[in-house]
Amino acid sequence: MNLEEMVNFCKQYGFIYQGSDIYGGLANTWDYGPLGSKLKNNLKDAWRYYFIRKRNNAYEIDADILMNPEVWVASGHVGSFSDPLIDCKECKTRHRADNLIEAFNPDVHADGMSEEEMVNYINENHVPCPKCGKSNFTGIRDFNLMFETNRGVIKDNKSVVYLRPENAQGEYVNYLNVKRSTRSNIPFSIGQIGKAFRNEITPGNFTFRTIEFEQMEYQTFCKPGTDSEFYNFFKDYAKKFFISLGIPEEKLRYHDHEKLAHYAKEACDIEYEFPFGWGEVNGTHNRTDFDLKSHQEHSGTSMEFIDPETNEKYIPYIVESTVGLDRLVLTVLFNSYHKETLENGTEREVMKFSPKLAPYKVAILPLIKKAHTEKSMEIFDMLTNYFDVDYDASGSIGKRYRRQDITGTPYCITVDDETLNNNTVTVRNRDTMEQEIVPVDELINYFNKKVLDI
Ligand code: GAP
Repeated sequence: MNLEEMVNFCKQYGFIYQGSDIYGGLANTWDYGPLGSKLKNNLKDAWRYYFIRKRNNAYEIDADILMNPEVWVASGHVGSFSDPLIDCKECKTRHRADNLIEAFNPDVHADGMSEEEMVNYINENHVPCPKCGKSNFTGIRDFNLMFETNRGVIKDNKSVVYLRPENAQGEYVNYLNVKRSTRSNIPFSIGQIGKAFRNEITPGNFTFRTIEFEQMEYQTFCKPGTDSEFYNFFKDYAKKFFISLGIPEEKLRYHDHEKLAHYAKEACDIEYEFPFGWGEVNGTHNRTDFDLKSHQEHSGTSMEFIDPETNEKYIPYIVESTVGLDRLVLTVLFNSYHKETLENGTEREVMKFSPKLAPYKVAILPLIKKAHTEKSMEIFDMLTNYFDVDYDASGSIGKRYRRQDITGTPYCITVDDETLNNNTVTVRNRDTMEQEIVPVDELINYFNKKVLDI
């Protein structure tokens, strides 16, 4: 399935819609529909299981999006979180200078060039505007990616606050709070799931690059000298997390950074092979003591840790493992879509979500509306105490199976006269399409085993 087909598929079945659709949209914004929201929540739960619950000394927090603006000075975002933008004088379109160069010559790594080098390269090579084809550009302007807003009634420099461009800082400024309230020693970890905002102007590739997105970020505070060990551990742990979601290893690759961000000693992405190319879904960063040191300087609060056994004093190093949730949803959508030709020659489309990620785990299909609704509703009420259950009473059973296949429901229950007479149902498996007779009283145990495949 290509990108455009995926956009249409997501709209048709209620995974993802264009944001503000009836107003013609707003570039690079997308809304999650009924199935997309469930898929996203299931991915959050899977992350929580893997990164918080299963790890010793790991705590989740939920920090505010708006923070003291000084946080973003300390983090380096006010000073250097920007894109080099350039305008075409002919058609007035705006572009990222590094993207223009790399589109012109993919062998050049423009993100390693200075602004002057980029301007010279564009002029000397007559790099064309992708819109009008001419080569007549302004100079480069640094464009900060942070969204600004104002608090209070007066709009001036003092009232500026930023919509956070990453979750991580919420975890750093709460490092002391969490350490104290959980009585933790080093090493320990703080994780957070939440929105981040970036004023991106580059094309989005659907939900791959948006201006509002969710991150699942995880910071491990460790003793200097143990940082590289944690860094290597989390590179591997993040990959195992993706594999646990049913993503095959051969569709994933590491990309070690040569040019490092201002805070990083080591950095590596995990990329997935999307139809539009390899794209970053996760990042592991060895951020050293850059962040805590900088917050100590700017806030005047000591970030030092005193080892209770050795009395040694140090500012902890931070190893970060971050996942873009929207990119992960997109990864799982592409990875799950299958078109199959059945033995009888007909085709079926099926989303082979791992059961723990499937929006609905079970669908209840009464064979005859009039005769089987009451019993079906009884089973629905019983199962919805434990699982997300869909209910579909319209059309032939074959058609209903197809609808559940394409939205990825792993099990369908048919309620018929056998159910009324013997209290048994037919359970149909999405992937094998095999059917099994299961007593109603055993359904909860049956699905618990199937759906909790961790
Ligand atoms: N705290 C570190 C940090 O924010 P990042 O590589 O800039 O690092 C982390 O972002 C993750 O957030 C990326 O791996 C990516 O999955 C996701 N992400 C970044 N920018 C995004 C955007 N504009 N739209 C969607 N996801 C984005």
